[in-house]
Amino acid sequence: MKLKTSILCAATFAVMPALAADPAKINWPKVPVVKVPLFYPGQSTYEWLRSAEHKGASKEVIRGDACTTCHDEEDNEKDLGAKLVKANPLEPMPVRAKNGFVELQVQAAYDAENAYFRFQWKTQAPEPGTEYPYYRFDGKEWKAWGAPRLDAPIQQGKQPAIYEDRLSMMIDDGKVPMFAQQGCWLTCHDGERDSRKVATKDEVAANEAMKAYGKADVRKYLPASRNDPSDWKTGKSLDELAKIKAEGGFADLIQWRANRSNPINMADDGWVLHWRNFDAGKNPFASNMDDKTKQPKYMFDAAKFGSKEVTANQLRRQANYLVKGGNAVPFDPNAGWKEGDMVPRYYLQPGDVTGSAADNKAVGVWKDGTWTVLLTRPLNLANDDDKAFKEGGVYSVGFAVHDDSITTRGHHVSWVRTVGFGAKAKTDIQAVKLK
Ligand code: HEC
Repeated sequence: MKLKTSILCAATFAVMPALAADPAKINWPKVPVVKVPLFYPGQSTYEWLRSAEHKGASKEVIRGDACTTCHDEEDNEKDLGAKLVKANPLEPMPVRAKNGFVELQVQAAYDAENAYFRFQWKTQAPEPGTEYPYYRFDGKEWKAWGAPRLDAPIQQGKQPAIYEDRLSMMIDDGKVPMFAQQGCWLTCHDGERDSRKVATKDEVAANEAMKAYGKADVRKYLPASRNDPSDWKTGKSLDELAKIKAEGGFADLIQWRANRSNPINMADDGWVLHWRNFDAGKNPFASNMDDKTKQPKYMFDAAKFGSKEVTANQLRRQANYLVKGGNAVPFDPNAGWKEGDMVPRYYLQPGDVTGSAADNKAVGVWKDGTWTVLLTRPLNLANDDDKAFKEGGVYSVGFAVHDDSITTRGHHVSWVRTVGFGAKAKTDIQAVKLK
C-alpha cells in the first residue's frame, strides 16, 4: 500500500484528514452506514429454491426473478433466520442456541488508488473467534483437534467447537448471469460440504470432471460451470471453463479471516466458477502438515513463543498464531512431544504472500463484542481472477459472516446489494470519494 504524504493535499480533504490510503485515518463517522440484514440460510440450495418445496416460487426463481421481489417485507430476514436456524427441513443439524440473524454495518469509500470498506457486526460469543483447529499429538500421531459446530463430533460433545470468525464478500460486475438477482445462492448447491446430498469421496473420485479439476470435494460453483447446473457431476471441460472465465463469467470472493489472515493484516482473495478457487500466487496461510511424514512442518520457537507447543488450557487466552519468519521453527520430531501437545493446523506466511492472492489488505479489531474490519482493495486490478473495482462502476455483492465457531453454510448471509464508486446509477451502498 502506497502512502501519500503530501501535506498540500491535506487542506482539501473533505472526509479524510492527513494521509490518503490509510483506512484507519478515514473520517468514518462522515461515511454513511448501510445496515445489511444477514440471516441463517440453512440448506436453501440452488436446487431447493427451484423445487416445489419453495412454496409457489420455483417457476419465478428458475426464470431468474430477484429473491427480493417476494422477500421484501420488513424483518423477513429475521423471520427466515429464526425459522431456519432451528430444526426444520432445511436444517438437519441444528446448532444449539445459535442466533438466526446478524446485522452487518457496511461503509464504503475510495480514492484514486483503493476501495475501502468498513464492516461492523456483533459476535454471539463473548470473545473474538480468533482460534482455528489444531494438530494434537495423541502419543503416537498428529490428529486434527477441534472443529466447527456443524460437525458431528462437536454436536456429540466429543471435541471442542473451534473455528475462526470470517467476513466474506462475493462480487460480480454484471457478467455472471442472474447474479444481480440471486447473488450467492447461485453458488450454493446440493452435493457441497454440509449441504443436502453431500457428495461422497468415492463419488467425487469417480467423476471425470472433478478429476480434471484435481478436486476431492464439491464446493461453491456457478451454474455456467455445469452442463446441468443442478448436478455437480456435469462439470464442463477445462477449455470451456477457461473461455467463461476469460469473458468474466466468474464471481470474486474476498474472505477476511480472524485466524488465518487478520494477524498479518490481510484478507484472502478467491474466485468462484467450477469450485471455490484461490487467486494466483501465494495465500496468507498454508497447511502445517507434511503429507509425506504425516507430521507438522513447523512448531513454535520456544525462545520467542515461550514453548514449542500450545495446550488446550491456553486456548483463547493468548495469540496462538504460528508465523513463518516470526515465531516458527522447523518441526523437530525428537523434541519430546507429550500427549495433548498441539501446533496450529495452518501457519501464516507474511513474507511469501504474492501475486493476485495478495491484493486485499485488512485490519480487524474486536472490542466490546463487536468486530470492526477495515478492508482495502486496489482499484483497477488487472488480474484475470479479479473483478476490478473502477471509478463509475456498479457491482453486485453478497455479504456473509461466519460467527461463533462455524464454517461452510453455517454463516449468516445477505440478499444481493449494489455498490457504486461514483456511479450515476443509485446503489444500495455508495462509496464516498475521498478528496
Ligand atoms: C415468487 C416469490 C419468491 C421468490 C422470487 C423467492 N421466494 Fe423464497 N419464498 C417465497 C415464499 C412464498 C416462501 C414461503 C413463505 C416464507 O416462509 O416466507 C419462501 C420461503 C423461502 C425460504 C424459507 C424456507 C422455509 O422453509 O421457510 C428461503 C430460505 C427462501 N425463500 C429463499 C429465497 C431465495 C434465496 C430466493 C432467491 C434465489 C427466493 N427465496 C426467491 C417466495 C419467493
